[in-house]
Amino acid sequence: MASASVIPIDDSSSTDVSGLPLRDIPGDYGLPFIGPIKDRLDYFYHQGVDEFFRSRAQKYESTVYRVNMPPGPFISSNPRVIVSLDGKSFPVLFDVSKVEKRDLFTGTYMPSTKLTGGYRVLSYLDPSETRHSQLKKLLFYLLMSRSSHMIPEFSSTYTKLFESLEKDLASKGKVTYNSPGEQAAFSFLGRCYFGVDPVDTQLGTNGPNIIAIWVLFHLAPIITLGLPAFLEEPILHTFPLPPFLIKKKYKRLYDYISSSAGSVLDEAEKMGLSREDACHNILFATCFNTFGGIRIFFPSILTWIGGAGVKLHNQLAQEIRTVIESNGGQVTMSALEKMPLMKSAVYEVFRIDPPVPFQYGKAKSDLIIESHDAAYEVKKGEMIFGYQPFATKDPKIFDDPEEYVADRFVGEGEKLLKHVLWSNGPETESPTLENKQCAGKDFVILISRLFVVELFRRYDSFEVQVKTTSSGHTVVITSLKKASF
Ligand code: HEM
Repeated sequence: MASASVIPIDDSSSTDVSGLPLRDIPGDYGLPFIGPIKDRLDYFYHQGVDEFFRSRAQKYESTVYRVNMPPGPFISSNPRVIVSLDGKSFPVLFDVSKVEKRDLFTGTYMPSTKLTGGYRVLSYLDPSETRHSQLKKLLFYLLMSRSSHMIPEFSSTYTKLFESLEKDLASKGKVTYNSPGEQAAFSFLGRCYFGVDPVDTQLGTNGPNIIAIWVLFHLAPIITLGLPAFLEEPILHTFPLPPFLIKKKYKRLYDYISSSAGSVLDEAEKMGLSREDACHNILFATCFNTFGGIRIFFPSILTWIGGAGVKLHNQLAQEIRTVIESNGGQVTMSALEKMPLMKSAVYEVFRIDPPVPFQYGKAKSDLIIESHDAAYEVKKGEMIFGYQPFATKDPKIFDDPEEYVADRFVGEGEKLLKHVLWSNGPETESPTLENKQCAGKDFVILISRLFVVELFRRYDSFEVQVKTTSSGHTVVITSLKKASF
């Protein structure tokens, strides 16, 4: 994988071994303090994220360059990064023999461990750390042990959700997906992972709101809420929000997991982990990784497939219903495999709108990274940052990269799947105890497929109005046309 685009330095020539010209990495970091603040203001307020990266790529005529990433002062001590914006250089970030992944899940700063019970959770661990493989194994165990519950729990939760959305749509003429979608997602996860619906515990329906605030405490330095700079800069981007403010609410999530995940915690002890360490980690995997991912990705599916129109909807409905019928009316993992258009339509959403757009890795030694046009020397200790939406919309890899092409990955198109990178690795590879690819990759693919299948079992087509901000899509459903065949 990444070894194809990362090779040892040969100082003796001005081209690298694959014949690309060696080029100094363009761009500069500006004056200390002032440079990072200027870049931060451009990023959030003057340009916005895409324009921030695009304009500099144009200026330097390079998809690899130097820039400061937010937050900068006073939250991150070193905001300097080397940006990768093409699909060729980006995979260096997956090669853990070349880059260190310690404490950089959120970028150039790490949120306080007080937000996670005092523990450095799995997402921040480098595979060289013993706890990394122990904890990842535990999550593999959790997912494996609950695999028979995934399809039935999904089907019952999302059937209820769609029934309720239909009612609201009928009475009000339109209905927003996000909030009821988040309630459904968290209930589904609780039932799927632990067999306990959080709504039936002390959490009630507060889970999604508590998680949203807790996640804000982690990500405030790198997001904008759409408020003016003079408010957001001092409150969100200059100092971390104090963790004690969220402690009580976090305890409610912890109590839910601790009382529901008993058998997983027993297993953790057998693996040599403390119950407490395991519980904070399962909480993080459930609430941050999984819930956080679904919260962004399901509205994204509705946005892109919704926007693709009736013709695609009818094709999907046809394919999905035919396969289910020939499978005795049952949705099973093997039935899903027989739906090439549905599978491709889901991969295409991951390509065009990757839910986690930022990846970081610190060079473990001096190395060369290659874009399509040039080779660049990176020094040991320098931070490489990949902006994934540009890598997966690389025009040198994908035709019409800005278009949502639902059948892009059907047939011969499957060969392009290695360039779909949402899981922090090529879609053709799998998470292991040694790499940093998303532990929930297969689960995420499964439930995303199930979401599309549930949708087109019930409806011939649907219409949405979408508002997109840097924190995701808000989807208003304006029509659900019930299945007619
Ligand atoms: C890692 C995305 C769901 C558990 C990651 C990374 C990404 C990602 C991009 C790599 C971050 C980095 O190191 O730079 C997503 C998305 C999801 C999702 C988009 C949903 C749409 C899940 C689920 C789980 C999970 C369901 C449940 C187990 C993890 C863990 C890691 C991780 C534990 C760290 C892996 C390691 O340290 O080796 N995920 N994820 N994620 N994800 Fe996911």
